[in-house]
Amino acid sequence: QHKYRIASIPADGIGPEVVSAAIEVVQKLSEVSKTFEIEFTHIPWGTAYYKEHGRYVDENVLDVLRSYDATLFGSVGAPDVPDHISLWGLLLAIRGPLQLYANVRPVRTFPGTQSPLRNAKAGDIDWILVRENSEGEYSGHGGRSHRGQVWEVATEVAIFTYVGVERIMRFAFAQAQARPRKLLTVVTKSNSLRNGMVLWDEVALKVSKDYPDVKWDKMLVDAMTVRMVNNPESLDTIVGTNLHMDILSDLAAALAGSIGVAPSSNLDPTRKNPSLFEPVHGSAFDITGKGVANPVATFWSAALMLEWLGEQDAKERLMEAVENVCQAGILTKDLGGTATTKDVTKAVCDEIARLGKGK
Ligand code: NAD
Ligand code: IPM
Ligand code: MN
Repeated sequence: QHKYRIASIPADGIGPEVVSAAIEVVQKLSEVSKTFEIEFTHIPWGTAYYKEHGRYVDENVLDVLRSYDATLFGSVGAPDVPDHISLWGLLLAIRGPLQLYANVRPVRTFPGTQSPLRNAKAGDIDWILVRENSEGEYSGHGGRSHRGQVWEVATEVAIFTYVGVERIMRFAFAQAQARPRKLLTVVTKSNSLRNGMVLWDEVALKVSKDYPDVKWDKMLVDAMTVRMVNNPESLDTIVGTNLHMDILSDLAAALAGSIGVAPSSNLDPTRKNPSLFEPVHGSAFDITGKGVANPVATFWSAALMLEWLGEQDAKERLMEAVENVCQAGILTKDLGGTATTKDVTKAVCDEIARLGKGK
């Protein structure tokens, strides 16, 4: 029996609501399957911590996280702290420094739920978005001079390195190769952006030679938004820059049904550092504390975490339970239902117990 130690950072907004729901569901899985044990350690970093201590995380943040097998993260951001302070204080202080360079964001329409696209059929939206997670506009390079003057200049430097682009491209080609359709779309903007984006195109061509069975094509990011809406079935695995995929992953989630189901893995594929798993959505101030947040994005993120840890069976059982619950119409408001976070959590736990007994 494997034993795992997980850092849980629920942080702000609906984060604590969906992370505690996910912990409940994972503990149920462990209890029913008896194949693994999992211990969650609560780490109180977030905006309340910041207000008390003047910083979002402890100074030894990376060492703290390195002492666990993985991190399950909620969301950070509060109405009364500027977003760039909270995000760079916590989440972005982890992703880049821990070199979690592959952000994998699967998107799929669950049974019993609907895409807002009028003509979308079941199975049309089943994508893996691969987001470069350490460079681009998120490198932290840039600055402001002559602050507040009319001649102020501000820069936000998008950094792309050969090493950074090559490793995410290889990762994406391998992801595409492992999927039945072996289809990869590389998203850039190499018509107007003639340095970094041209590097992306060149690296894609070079890496593609090592994956001759992967069919791949290139899209400019603006045209890509149109293709996602008009021809969703033509897409499978998609790779792009940190900023482009940030935007496309929210669009993809909405097209699949709701941002409330979209998960993400922030992976260090070399496994030198523990990976971090989190829903794609944020703090959702408008529904915080109302008990109506959709916990499915965090359930799916926890499932991806179990898979990364080697618990493939547990992952599959969790996803099966989630799908059955959706199919049964136990849906939160974002998916057109009336169920609360607790209703969905209980239904998934009951379904895990039922599936467990069936074996
Ligand atoms: P958001 O994702 O928090 O919310 C956008 C909309 O989606 C809202 O209407 C919200 O109610 C809805 N929504 C999100 N998650 C939902 C869920 N699980 N169930 C049902 N509905 C859900 O995006 P935002 O409003 O742009 O950001 C709010 C705050 O969160 C900001 O501070 C932002 O910086 C931060 N943020 C954090 C993360 C993160 O920690 N990973 C991600 C995105 C945004
Ligand atoms: C996401 C979020 C983050 C990002 C923010 C909150 C820093 O939007 O995970 O998609 O831009 O990466
Ligand atoms: Mn985002």
